[in-house]
Amino acid sequence: MTVSIPSPLTSDIDWWRSAVVYQVYVRSFADSDGDGVGDLQGIRERLPYLRELGVDALWLTPFYTSPMVDGGYDVADYRDVDPMFGNLADFEAMITDAHALGLRIIVDIVPNHTSDKHPWFTAALAAAPGSPERARYLFADGKGDDGAQPPNDWESIFGGPAWTRVPDGQWYLHLFDPAQPDLNWRHSEVRREFEDILRFWLDRGVDGFRIDVAHGMIKAAGLPDVGFNSMTTGRRQSELLGKGRLPYFDQDEVHDIYRAWRPILDSYPGGRMAVAEAWAETPQRLARYIGPDELHQAFSFDFLDATWSADSFRKVIDTALAESTIVGAPTTWVLSNHDRQRHVTRYGDGEVGLRRARAAALLMLALPGCAYLYQGEELGLPEVLDLPDELRQDPAFLRTGESRDGCRVPIPWSGDLAPYGFGPAGSALSWLPAPTTWRALSVAAQTGTPGSTLELYRAALRIRHTHPALAGLGGITWLETGPGVLAFQREAAGTVLTCVVNISDAPVVIDGYGTPLVASSTLTERDCGHLLPVDAAVWFERHPNG
Ligand code: NOJ
Repeated sequence: MTVSIPSPLTSDIDWWRSAVVYQVYVRSFADSDGDGVGDLQGIRERLPYLRELGVDALWLTPFYTSPMVDGGYDVADYRDVDPMFGNLADFEAMITDAHALGLRIIVDIVPNHTSDKHPWFTAALAAAPGSPERARYLFADGKGDDGAQPPNDWESIFGGPAWTRVPDGQWYLHLFDPAQPDLNWRHSEVRREFEDILRFWLDRGVDGFRIDVAHGMIKAAGLPDVGFNSMTTGRRQSELLGKGRLPYFDQDEVHDIYRAWRPILDSYPGGRMAVAEAWAETPQRLARYIGPDELHQAFSFDFLDATWSADSFRKVIDTALAESTIVGAPTTWVLSNHDRQRHVTRYGDGEVGLRRARAAALLMLALPGCAYLYQGEELGLPEVLDLPDELRQDPAFLRTGESRDGCRVPIPWSGDLAPYGFGPAGSALSWLPAPTTWRALSVAAQTGTPGSTLELYRAALRIRHTHPALAGLGGITWLETGPGVLAFQREAAGTVLTCVVNISDAPVVIDGYGTPLVASSTLTERDCGHLLPVDAAVWFERHPNG
């Protein structure tokens, strides 16, 4: 069934170039039915909040039918909604309302692997080695006389071998959990299936896709050994890539897939886009995913990985902007997501971490390109570090001891008792517990509260959308500053906006940039300008000819 959704958004097909996209981790955003898990109806009810926050689009993490071994990144049916999250009618109601409010919807697509409960994989397990059913996945015979050794030395990103043996002696590849078998993207049926899945969601009005593990679908022919123990050299994809091109990532033929996807996206009206979650050895190789015949964007995680230092940010920003000029596509800026420790905690936690996180938000939102916010960062939420082990659900936790659950704790909306309005009135359930300190961080507690992080984000997003120097695509000009201070300008329509970030170890006096518009910490007026505290950022405006 094709649902025709009237969209008020069709005029601006390049909306994604300067958009602010809000990542909704669906099971932790808002729970409408009181089962302790967020759902599509919960998102629908909170759309006015997101509209008021001032974002342009939502990226929804997977809500498809799934055994939830990896939080929904293990999909059993790509064309349906898991009952835990609602149903297709809920999706259609949610996207209709979102569009009516001027919010676009990006959905996650998980093409590298399915769930082991996907009918294709259950059929593959039931079939014999060499059968057409097995050909859709990466089954191989093991090494050694009795085939008891895995086919090669690849290790799972979640720890342990990337191969699991089935009772008839063959092995199947899973770059992630054993419950996430990798598909064989050299198989034409796999390609056709995903092209059809794209159309299924495009027909339902989605404005874009976030492509999971977009660099992983093609494996080097012959499945050669990596040649080193990736688990002892570093588990992060960024660390692995420092070792050279891996036979399971960023293979040249992966681009054929996106060259086939782009005409599908372009055949729909209204500017449908795709953003790759891709990792590559160099920014140049990452840039190859972007272009008029491939994808619109690739996440750059370098900004997220920058340390809290002016030099580190400056280097990352310069590299990203230079690359974006070469490929003619906007940079993406990300500070947090559902896989990484929240940036309040990465920057030092507590008051220091929060102060820095607020400053980083003003830095990010002043830059040209597309900014991705992760739910709860507008509330200044820290990572929850002390979740009891028995409540942790990240499959990587069992295999490596590292867990991503601490950034996935349900959002506090209101009230005095946990889970702080995450569910309907009176519901005490939430799949992970919120700490008591989150009472003061709830949306209700911060709304209208001068100086709150929520009001800071609202103010910054309002200015970003309305100020000519920020709303456009114009570049930045760095200004001379003292050590540890970043300052750059953007200019449009006779107005100059200057962003200054103080990452030095002493307050700095700032003069000559005009009127402050928004600051992450309190500015003090001085005869000769304004005093910007340590770990703080400010936007100034001036009209040179006015
Ligand atoms: C990247 C996703 O962001 C992460 O949450 C997931 O575990 C892996 N891909 C595997 O799908």
